[in-house]
Amino acid sequence: MELKQDSDNNVGYEALELYQPPTAHREVFQAALDRAVEKITELVPRFGLRNPRMGIPGTNRYAFCIPDEWVASFWPGQMWLAYSLTGDPRLKNSARMRREYFRTVLEHPRWHDHDLGFLFSLSAVADYSLTGNEVSRDMALRAADFLAARWRQPMPFVMCWNPMLRDGPEFMARKTGTLNVDSMQAMALLFWAGRESGQASFAEIANQHLETCQRYLVRDDYSTYHAYEFNPRTGEPMSGFTHQGLHDESCWSRGQAWAIHGFAQAYLYSGETAYRDTAAKLADYVAAHLPEDGVPLWDYNLTANDEPYRDSSAGAVTAAGVYTLARCFGGGDKGAHYTKLADKLLLGLVEKCDLTGDASADGLLSEGAAFVGLGRANNLLPYGDYYYVEALMRSVGHTEFFW
Ligand code: GLY
Repeated sequence: MELKQDSDNNVGYEALELYQPPTAHREVFQAALDRAVEKITELVPRFGLRNPRMGIPGTNRYAFCIPDEWVASFWPGQMWLAYSLTGDPRLKNSARMRREYFRTVLEHPRWHDHDLGFLFSLSAVADYSLTGNEVSRDMALRAADFLAARWRQPMPFVMCWNPMLRDGPEFMARKTGTLNVDSMQAMALLFWAGRESGQASFAEIANQHLETCQRYLVRDDYSTYHAYEFNPRTGEPMSGFTHQGLHDESCWSRGQAWAIHGFAQAYLYSGETAYRDTAAKLADYVAAHLPEDGVPLWDYNLTANDEPYRDSSAGAVTAAGVYTLARCFGGGDKGAHYTKLADKLLLGLVEKCDLTGDASADGLLSEGAAFVGLGRANNLLPYGDYYYVEALMRSVGHTEFFW
């Protein structure tokens, strides 16, 4: 793919005609956003230096992260978003006090996987973007270096997972050669690093990874595989499979969400229309499979025999991704069309899952499904909370985020 770069190595972006079409539900969404920001501010002393990991089953309370957790940045990310709206120094200071956690991640290469994207976009990139802090910039660039170093021939993608002894020999071998759909969000860290450093290889690696995602994870009907296995010796594609979805040929709803958000965001960085148009087809698949109330179930291909758990986190990531997509299309019919779809998803969350008015709750959304196969459903999830705030902000016209 030919990169569209200007003389300062900026890829495309400024040249795109971007416009966030208005929502038809501005008052409802602004009120939910105001409540969310108030709640985040109230939670700062309750959480102290801890980062929420997952809800304790049967409660509205969180259990907290230990070192090496992929979800550790979603609470700092919420504080940075709230800080961007309010300028309240308590939010900035509390988010920045997590720096040691993320420094420890950098110092442990065996913990590094595609989740470096989530971890550092929502902590170090966020801090640098909002405050210009140079220590955070250096940490984010270091994380991007580690991520880029996971691109190794013969694989046509950035290595996603690490094989671990605890996985057992079969899954361990499989992980080495597997591309997963979750990794698409991590490409924003590479694009950001390319723009920040002027080093074109970051965007080249991100584009190579995304093209492989487009070719192998996206099916002909624009549903997605959770994962695709390649031969680790030759790089030859083998077959798609699922880890967290219903079965290998089903469409795990959060995976579809990562793909929509990832491709839409990649368009904003690269100007590559194939990314935007793929995101649109993936969103059309969601529109055709979404329950009437607008909240996705955990997989789009459940049968009457499967547990119909909602996944509010899939709803939140998809809503944020579809608003981003609407912005990519700008002021025309398609922008309005995808805004309507994003509104349906977000209204579903506000009406069915919103906990912002519940003073006892540790989170913003009920009914997240982390991993139904392991019995993790009907829970608070910090990524659901983070993307809910992002979606609410995008719905009322905010356009500056950390991806
Ligand atoms: N590990 C990413 C997810 O559960 O969505």
